Amino acid sequence: MPEPIKMIIDTDPGVDDAIAILMALAAPGVEILGLTSVGGNVPLARTTRNSLALLQAAGRSDIPVVKGASRPLRGKFTYSTRFHGPGGISSRLPEPTIRPVKRPAVQFLNEKLTSHKPGELVLVALGPLTNLAKLVQEYPCSLKRAKNIVVMGGAVNAPGNVTPKSEFNIYSDPVAAEVLFSSGVPLTLVDLAACRQVSIDRDRALGLRAEHRIGSLALRILQSWFRKHRDRERFEFYDPLAMMITLKPTITTVTKINLNVSLEKNSSWGQTYESGGAGEITLPLHVDKSRFFRLLESLFQMEGLPVA
Ligand code: BDR
Ligand code: CA
Repeated sequence: MPEPIKMIIDTDPGVDDAIAILMALAAPGVEILGLTSVGGNVPLARTTRNSLALLQAAGRSDIPVVKGASRPLRGKFTYSTRFHGPGGISSRLPEPTIRPVKRPAVQFLNEKLTSHKPGELVLVALGPLTNLAKLVQEYPCSLKRAKNIVVMGGAVNAPGNVTPKSEFNIYSDPVAAEVLFSSGVPLTLVDLAACRQVSIDRDRALGLRAEHRIGSLALRILQSWFRKHRDRERFEFYDPLAMMITLKPTITTVTKINLNVSLEKNSSWGQTYESGGAGEITLPLHVDKSRFFRLLESLFQMEGLPVA
């Protein structure tokens, strides 16, 4: 029996965030202690609303949603509505009747981390790193109690997706990324080079079938994204890969690196680059793509994924 995973997901849903959250909901042996929201793909009010709507649609209104940061440590968020749609999730989910917990996300994170044994909680960060950086600043010992921190972000040895050099989550709050990376807390950084290994094309995605409640919801979100983006041929499983690596770390080979984030206010803003030597950051390298799709297929009981 694999060990049960106690997880908190820090997120800015987001089409791919939504699919990643549904993966965690579908995974056996995973207990989600809460979702903490952050502005990013869309404004905080919307990422919070989407987190609540998603949990309610999945029949998991019991999981708390806690509001996090509406702005980065410096400047303002530049939202990604062109990719995710004005609402953040391509498929229209019913308006939630549940409400966020009345407590700041940083306080919630600290409470959960300190009320569990060291090495018990897993944190998955799927948006800008503002909430985690504030946690480091306000409660410097808290994050060290996590078993593992998996972050989707960065373009270490790959071109960016928001600028030629930078990836969206890090670009959105590079100061926060710098606070977290320089804190010495060991973490896994699932960057664009890893994520670009797992994508699905339009025809394949539109041909998928799912019976299972959570799988059907994930499929509805993915397929309506393709229907709304007639010009797009591929969907990259960014946040879902970070979630899969959290659930099944052996689907990828890794290396250990030291990492820097550029805070230069020029075309390098938010660029992530190695600073030499083996450090505390685990960087996935080669992802077993067939295994990723086989696992996704079994989590969502989906037919038609490219598993061969
Ligand atoms: C990341 O940026 C967001 O748009 C996605 O949700 C993902 O977390 C990819 O660069
Ligand atoms: Ca995200």
